[in-house]
Amino acid sequence: MYYPDEIVEEVRSKNDIVDVVGRYVKLQKKGGSHFGLCPFHNEKSPSFSVSSSKQMYYCFGCGAGGNVFTFVMNYENYSFQEAIQMLAERAGVELPKIEYSEEAKKKESLRNLLLEVNKEAAKYFYYQLRAPQGAKGLEYFKERKLSDETMKNFGLGYSNVTSDDLVKYLKSKGYDDSIIIESGLATHDEKYGFHDKFWNRVMFPIQDVNHRVIGFGGRVMGDAKPKYLNSPETKIFDKSRNLYGLNFARSSRREYIILCEGYMDVIAMHQAGFNCAVASLGTAFTTGQANLLHRYAKEVILAYDSDGAGTNAALRAIKILKEVGLTGKVLNLKPYKDPDEFIKNLGTEAFEERIKNAENSFFFELRIMSEKYNLDDPESKTSFHREIAKKLCEFTEDVERDNYIEAVASKYSIGYENLRKLVLKIAAQSGNVEPAYRPKSTATKKNNSVDNALKPQRMFLTWLIEEPYLYPKIKKYVTVEDFTEEIYQKVAKMVFDGLEEAKLNPAAIISQFSDEEDQRKVAEIFNTKVGDLEGLQEKEKAFHDILYALKKSSYDYFSSKLGSDVTALNQVIQGKKALEEINKIHISMEET
Ligand code: GTP
Ligand code: MN
Repeated sequence: MYYPDEIVEEVRSKNDIVDVVGRYVKLQKKGGSHFGLCPFHNEKSPSFSVSSSKQMYYCFGCGAGGNVFTFVMNYENYSFQEAIQMLAERAGVELPKIEYSEEAKKKESLRNLLLEVNKEAAKYFYYQLRAPQGAKGLEYFKERKLSDETMKNFGLGYSNVTSDDLVKYLKSKGYDDSIIIESGLATHDEKYGFHDKFWNRVMFPIQDVNHRVIGFGGRVMGDAKPKYLNSPETKIFDKSRNLYGLNFARSSRREYIILCEGYMDVIAMHQAGFNCAVASLGTAFTTGQANLLHRYAKEVILAYDSDGAGTNAALRAIKILKEVGLTGKVLNLKPYKDPDEFIKNLGTEAFEERIKNAENSFFFELRIMSEKYNLDDPESKTSFHREIAKKLCEFTEDVERDNYIEAVASKYSIGYENLRKLVLKIAAQSGNVEPAYRPKSTATKKNNSVDNALKPQRMFLTWLIEEPYLYPKIKKYVTVEDFTEEIYQKVAKMVFDGLEEAKLNPAAIISQFSDEEDQRKVAEIFNTKVGDLEGLQEKEKAFHDILYALKKSSYDYFSSKLGSDVTALNQVIQGKKALEEINKIHISMEET
């Protein structure tokens, strides 16, 4: 984090979380909190809460939580830098300028200049499309059934028939020759001088995730070749790390991303409401792009052309997705060639249906593989089964592999045991994989017992931040060491310090953690309520029980460490004493 803590805190405190969240989620006041439908998972009744006093949100359904920064980062898929910039602007806080080295400054100003040139060019093309000389382009887009709104959203444009008018325009705006050449929008040679890269084409500006134009694709309005021209790679245009449409898809509320081949496909899908569609930039899908997608979705649905080339590209993309840990599915577009044609012919609902029925990428791979074999011939069929078994060895996790063995066996009518044995044999030969066993999961049980110890710790901290007057009454019994996980200890320390100095600020505590998962945990720590309690007596008893449980679990923990940890003995002695005392005391909750 490179903004100083005070600035971060100023920006946070000037952005009331109820206001900010309220712009995205419809909230209703209920008790001390506001409730709404959680934007981070699908639900029908509201379990998403926003607390004005804590300046925090937390979803009791999916566990999403944090402060105003966390919310904006998650909702908009912003980095922390982007979130603080947006919120600073919203609240009128001026952020300090970051100090760069001379060299970095130069690089940055070159990048900015290139961005400016591309933006100017985009404006120019946009204007041309709507001017008389662009009528041809406009007609072309209309024929392809794009609405005015779609053309506007994607900033579509047109490059004139004359082959140097963009250069002239950019020069008139004061950009010098070298930057125009470096932008890739024009070339220069001794004999003919300057030449626009794009002319007489409809233009697709390519934007990065922050909506900045970084390059262009240009399409001929007929069957001439090459069909598409793309800007060359420049200092701001890295084709392997950007995706067309991702600037919109990043904040689509769908759980998956649709990956396709063409700009027109992306646009057609967005127009039909599938605003999670993206395409690579005229080159094959890369690991860099897969990593980028991983930030925004867990599942990618491939909508590649239904021809042989599209199928091969899909097979390659599946491998790349798998490498970065994304699940892939494949959309069947038949009898149409690509998403654009499909939607034009069969409409939105049919497309939605195809998404629902998208094929698991592993089965897709097997199906394509099976086409090479004659399954009526035992010899060929056996070879096919061997290939299947070989592919099944790719799963390194036992449970997953076994589930696939089972599914594949049933799908291709192979005996489960036979297939399993074949997989084991091949795995043993290649030394790749341990034998598969049936699932015997203890993981969930274990987690629960850990959570059972942590829950009183969370309840205790939630209670303290909500009713800080209790702190002086119990502080002598509790120490930071009573909290059994590192993050709980850190939070407890900050809570205790804040209470000592009478300036406890839960939402600011969240800002101390830069990792998103940590922020979520802190929000959980501050949102673990005991449940409905009736009357003072019940409340007092509950709090007393929590304090006891917290102390007891810490006592048990250190008792188990006796012998291996020299500080444990001291903790055990103190813990025992505290437990005895807690047993005797009455903690009054009458607010006097
Ligand atoms: P339409 O034919 O207008 O519907 O476009 P499309 O997007 O369906 O085109 P296609 O499926 O043929 O190509 C998919 C993508 O590959 C395009 O969006 C381009 O990014 C790229 N591409 C296609 N043709 C060319 C070409 O001739 N040169 C380059 N560099 N890229 C191309
Ligand atoms: Mn097409």
